[in-house]
Amino acid sequence: MSQQTPEYSSYRATANDDLEASACLEIASRESSQGRQSDGSVIPHRESIMVVDFGSQYSRLIARRVRECKVYCEIIPHDTAWETVSAMNPKGIILSGGPASVYEEGAPLAPSWVYDKGLPVLGICYGMQVMVHQLGGKVIQASAKEYGHALIHQNTPEYALFENIPSSMPVWMSHGDKILESPPGFESLAYTDNSPIAAIGNFHNMVGIQFHPEVAHTPQGTKLIENFLYKICNLRGLWTAGNFVSDAINGIKNQVGSGKVICALSGGVDSVVAASLIHQAVGDQLTCIFVNNGLMRRDEPRRVLNTVEKYMKVKLIFSESTDYFLDKLKGIIDPEEKRKIIGRTFIQIFEDEASQLGKVDFLAQGTLYPDVIESKTAESTISAKIKTHHNVGGLPDHMNLSLVEPLRYLFKDEVREVGLELGLPEEMIFRQPFPGPGLAIRIMGEVNKERLAVLREADWIVMDEIKQNNLYRELWQSFAVLTDTQTVGVMGDYRTYGYVIAIRAITSEDAMTADWARLPYDVLKRISSRIANEVSGVNRVVYDITSKPPGTIEWE
Ligand code: XMP
Repeated sequence: MSQQTPEYSSYRATANDDLEASACLEIASRESSQGRQSDGSVIPHRESIMVVDFGSQYSRLIARRVRECKVYCEIIPHDTAWETVSAMNPKGIILSGGPASVYEEGAPLAPSWVYDKGLPVLGICYGMQVMVHQLGGKVIQASAKEYGHALIHQNTPEYALFENIPSSMPVWMSHGDKILESPPGFESLAYTDNSPIAAIGNFHNMVGIQFHPEVAHTPQGTKLIENFLYKICNLRGLWTAGNFVSDAINGIKNQVGSGKVICALSGGVDSVVAASLIHQAVGDQLTCIFVNNGLMRRDEPRRVLNTVEKYMKVKLIFSESTDYFLDKLKGIIDPEEKRKIIGRTFIQIFEDEASQLGKVDFLAQGTLYPDVIESKTAESTISAKIKTHHNVGGLPDHMNLSLVEPLRYLFKDEVREVGLELGLPEEMIFRQPFPGPGLAIRIMGEVNKERLAVLREADWIVMDEIKQNNLYRELWQSFAVLTDTQTVGVMGDYRTYGYVIAIRAITSEDAMTADWARLPYDVLKRISSRIANEVSGVNRVVYDITSKPPGTIEWE
């Protein structure tokens, strides 16, 4: 199966709400000569599954499914050493799919520890073929490739992997090679019309399946993964938000000791959850810094402050820097220039505020697991993408900060669960992503107070209607854009010449691709008439019906 790297993934940021703050800080800290790093071992794992990655586009999905079954897992490169793995307390191994053919020269294979340590193994697609190849069976190119839906029939329904799963079931296939002979000691567990050997198993808890249980097109897939985890690996399901919180708190206490921590709050869920965990662990040793760049939505700074005061009770420095940012943005039209200026100004203010605190030892970051996975393929890191156009300076060396990254093990939905477990309000936890440069990249042309006021009013109406119609959580993002076009209109007996506001509402899984939302006409009608009537200076409203690709989510 080939790994697709869509060209349109572009230089832009992906989906973290607080990306801007954290990415700027990360870049800044790397650029300092002393280079900060996280030891990555804040949280000891009670039990885990290793997903050995052979480059499948579905490896992440495998990890998600395992986590949904309440088992911690990590994706590791296929050449990871046993010493690294053993520290994670592995109780089983999943070999992912991949684009190669095992019989080709240089094809990635599994390290010997996969077979030597007596751990249960589940090979998926290429992962199964690797197992067969390395254990003495035979894999060949199939005369007919098998892509898409297939019906699988079991030979051995009593095998633990298939417990409580119908003996014939639909599965999702995606392979051009097939198993000709199982390795010694393995039996064939299932077949399809095209694959006489579509699943294999031995009596030492090693199983292989040709299909993909992790995708939604295999309806029994999660049950099958659950069988592997609970019936074959005998796991206990200890990966819960509650356990995570208590383990994370202990881990942070150990890492931070009596040190001082600073954290940039942006109002997004990641920084709030990270700060909240750290606060529970080390109390007032943590100081948060919120920089109001004047580019947030109406009421947002106040809401962030209220949440912090009411739910977190953490020490907070509120830096009111609106005028400073707007001054720097005066006359700037180019979107990338706006981003650079906002990034650099943010770092400068953050540094100034932090320097008032005396010696600080740690910088808290809301880095998530997808960033950690991506950072293993250096060129594609979010921060590398941002770096190309941010060029922020480094934090001063004398600060010499180490990183505390309590969320580096979590996917976004797990961060939300942890947030709820910590008692943070749903309004904050389920907030739609908001870009770091904020409204500056939703105003075409120069950013100034007057234009910000127009956009804020229009954006408020969009939010209000979306929320009132219970659409907020269905949408990945919904917002208004102030275009640089003015058009003629008529109001009463007068001709007007006013701004055009564009409405953008999209659905997405991860912001890499997106579709425009089919908002009900009635909702669009209300948004349009309210904006035209209530926002002075605007006489026309348009709805953006561009998907991504070819468009991007933001207009700039
Ligand atoms: P695009 O417009 O590239 O956006 O489709 C993808 C996601 O990233 C957000 N975005 C940004 N976030 N700094 C950020 O922190 C940025 O410069 C930036 N540009 C876009 C955007 O809101 C969407 O969620």
